[in-house]
Amino acid sequence: MKCGTRVIPRGRYINRVIFPVPRQRYGGFGMKALIIGASGQIGHCLYEILKGGHQVTGTFFSYPQAGLIKLDMTEREKVHKLVGALVPEVVLIPAAMPNVEACEEKPEFCYQVNVDGVGHVLDAAAQVGAKIVYFSTDYVFDGAAGPYSETDRPNPISVYGRAKYAVEQRIQRSCSPWLIIRTTVVYGPEQQGKNFVMGLIRRLKQGAVVKVPRDQVGTPTYAPNLCRVVKELVELGKEGIYNVAGPDLMNRYQFALAVAETFELDKSLIVPVSTAELGQKAPRPLNGGLKINKVQAQIKTPLAGVYEGLREMKRIM
Ligand SMILES: NC(=O)c1ccc[n+]([C@@H]2O[C@H](COP(=O)([O-])OP(=O)(O)OC[C@H]3O[C@@H](n4cnc5c(N)ncnc54)[C@H](OP(=O)(O)O)[C@@H]3O)[C@@H](O)[C@H]2O)c1
Repeated sequence: MKCGTRVIPRGRYINRVIFPVPRQRYGGFGMKALIIGASGQIGHCLYEILKGGHQVTGTFFSYPQAGLIKLDMTEREKVHKLVGALVPEVVLIPAAMPNVEACEEKPEFCYQVNVDGVGHVLDAAAQVGAKIVYFSTDYVFDGAAGPYSETDRPNPISVYGRAKYAVEQRIQRSCSPWLIIRTTVVYGPEQQGKNFVMGLIRRLKQGAVVKVPRDQVGTPTYAPNLCRVVKELVELGKEGIYNVAGPDLMNRYQFALAVAETFELDKSLIVPVSTAELGQKAPRPLNGGLKINKVQAQIKTPLAGVYEGLREMKRIM
């Protein structure tokens, strides 16, 4: 597809070179942003953080929340209708079916949501000249040699990882300005309680024994910190791929111990195992994690370490 200049209804000429405009050019109203998937872990905190200074609309899919609009992004017409009516300047896409095991079991469904559904959003955003902010993962790598930088070559080993990488490639070919945020092992206070830390706290409080892999290495990322960093990147008008993750490289067992210590729960209930022992369907990138030198050099917000993130989480829960 040939990339050209577009006119959007507000009369601003937009092309790859001059868009996005830094926030201060919008006066007191901030950017007009649309978040697809504002009911999820990352989407919800993005919604809350961006609301301070920007005009934000958010969508949910199966978890209704006050103020959010229902949208199934696999429904092409409805996606185009919403984006066409709002004409946002930025479309943030944390929406996904991120369950790695479910993706391996139902690859067609995984692609329907994570590739085709997101594709409808990309098309609609392109039609109104909106910038795309897409959330990706270190699962685009094989885990042979992490932590990874933005320039390392992806080689996904799971259905979920291949779907996310397929979207990354599509975005990189698009005419719209784009920002891909790669993140990993995201935790924090979460309404739906799905993330690793929320699940671990719940099970330890119930006195359950929890098996945790000691051979999956990553860089845990505190969700509110991730969202503050993304806000800064968007306001600075950054484009391209950015790793946004915590600075601490550790295995999942060490992370679980840090959770138990911070929340004063029984560490002896946490049993270290190998990933193979868990018998999961989807292969995991064992030596994963993300290097954050690039983002650290360009923003003011510090990236939160594991104990800092967990302590803040405990304070606000
Ligand atoms: N969490 C992590 O550790 C992690 C790590 C790396 C990358 N990521 C990426 O970050 C993004 C956000 O992750 P998350 O942890 O915030 O996931 P999440 O909590 O599961 O949120 C997913 C969001 O997508 C929405 N959604 C699901 N199916 C949809 C559909 N068909 N149409 C429209 N919206 C739909 C959900 O809506 P409802 O809840 O209302 O159904 C929810 O708002 C994902 O793209 C994921 O791949 C996450």
